[in-house]
Amino acid sequence: MDSIIVRGGAELNGSIPIAGAKNACLTLMPATLLTDAPLTLTNAPRLSDIATMANLLRSLGAEVSTLQDGQVLALSSHDLTSHHADYEIVRKMRASILVLGPLLARLGQAEVSLPGGCAIGARPVDLHLKALEALGAELDLRDGYVHARAPQGGLRGGTVTFPLVSVGATENVLMAATLARGTTVIENAAREPEIVDLARCLSRMGARIDGAGTETITVEGVDRLEGATHRVVTDRIELGTYMLAPAICGGEVECLGGRIDLVEAFCEKLDAAGIDVTETETGLKVARRNGRIQAVNVETAPFPGFPTDLQAQMMALLCTAEGTSVLEERIFENRFMHAPELMRMGAKIDVHGGTARVTGVERLRGAPVMATDLRASVSLILAGLAAEGETVVSRVYHLDRGYERVEDKLGACGARIERVQGR
Ligand code: UD1
Repeated sequence: MDSIIVRGGAELNGSIPIAGAKNACLTLMPATLLTDAPLTLTNAPRLSDIATMANLLRSLGAEVSTLQDGQVLALSSHDLTSHHADYEIVRKMRASILVLGPLLARLGQAEVSLPGGCAIGARPVDLHLKALEALGAELDLRDGYVHARAPQGGLRGGTVTFPLVSVGATENVLMAATLARGTTVIENAAREPEIVDLARCLSRMGARIDGAGTETITVEGVDRLEGATHRVVTDRIELGTYMLAPAICGGEVECLGGRIDLVEAFCEKLDAAGIDVTETETGLKVARRNGRIQAVNVETAPFPGFPTDLQAQMMALLCTAEGTSVLEERIFENRFMHAPELMRMGAKIDVHGGTARVTGVERLRGAPVMATDLRASVSLILAGLAAEGETVVSRVYHLDRGYERVEDKLGACGARIERVQGR
């Protein structure tokens, strides 16, 4: 198992290219199941989660080839051979549940393993299932699997009203509705940029979708979808993560491909903390204003609110702020596992339920720490960049699920960071 060693204290200067969004790509890939024509995705990130989704699709009979060093994915579901998504693959990644809607819509049946528990809370899939039931699906939970069948004549349009906003459930039902008979209305839909990106790709494939990016999405079902070529939207979480690097270390970094509209709520908090963000022709330039970072309060919320996937990284910044910041995690319970690790580096953090109070210290100190999930692991790297001495982040396989070549991207801007194998 690899570890990452960071020696803190270096200013960062330069530019960092931001990849295509993991979470967009993980929902665009299953869209191949909706059509027998080829789907090509460009600007794909090179991550282990993408390889896991490719393997899941292959297990269903889809062809998935990677071109241009993994940045282009050529997908074809011309000859699907199975509707069974096995536990052995699904357990590795929750996003596997996103094959359920497409399989059901195209083949009229699906058997998908229930994703197991997850380190950041219970994360059920009940909303996915209820939404598909509203389209007429008959579901049966047996032996750890969802056994799903479309009614005679296929799925039919319906009204889905989500009691709470779910990104994954919105994606699943949106894909299923493209091939359902009649009109589907999705109310209280997620508005994340990844949903908008999915809707764009589906529309290119011939789907009739209105309202993506708003609370109400309307889909007119069509008989079949065509092939398409689609560029994956920029990863707003990778963007926000690298924007925090110069914020924490000082210096000036341009995040290439960055756009304010992807990270607006996050930028407001950076501004309040004393960080300047400027739009350039090629991305976003980030630099810290003179003086110490100021404490800010943060509450996570569905888009356009502050993303839960940037909460851990923001906490790393606030550990050295002047004053006390209050972070409220409203999306997932148990998503402060990075707090005890940051405390090993000298951070002052009090966690009570979904609230963390972070009192800034002048300086963090390097320490051996352990990554417990994807975003937690990168927050420890960010903290290490600001800390005095050496930080060793172990169990970085979490990191590789969501960040491509983190050590190269930060290293190119002057960070002292290296990967060591087998530690
Ligand atoms: C997606 C992202 C994840 C991000 C999250 C919130 C992917 C692959 N993952 O996850 O990185 O952190 O959005 O922006 O895109 N819930 C239920 N029942 C359900 C589904 C969700 O109760 O059937 C709850 C969850 O426990 C959570 C909330 O709804 O409290 C939001 O979850 P959701 O938006 O569905 O997250 P994911 O789609 O799993």
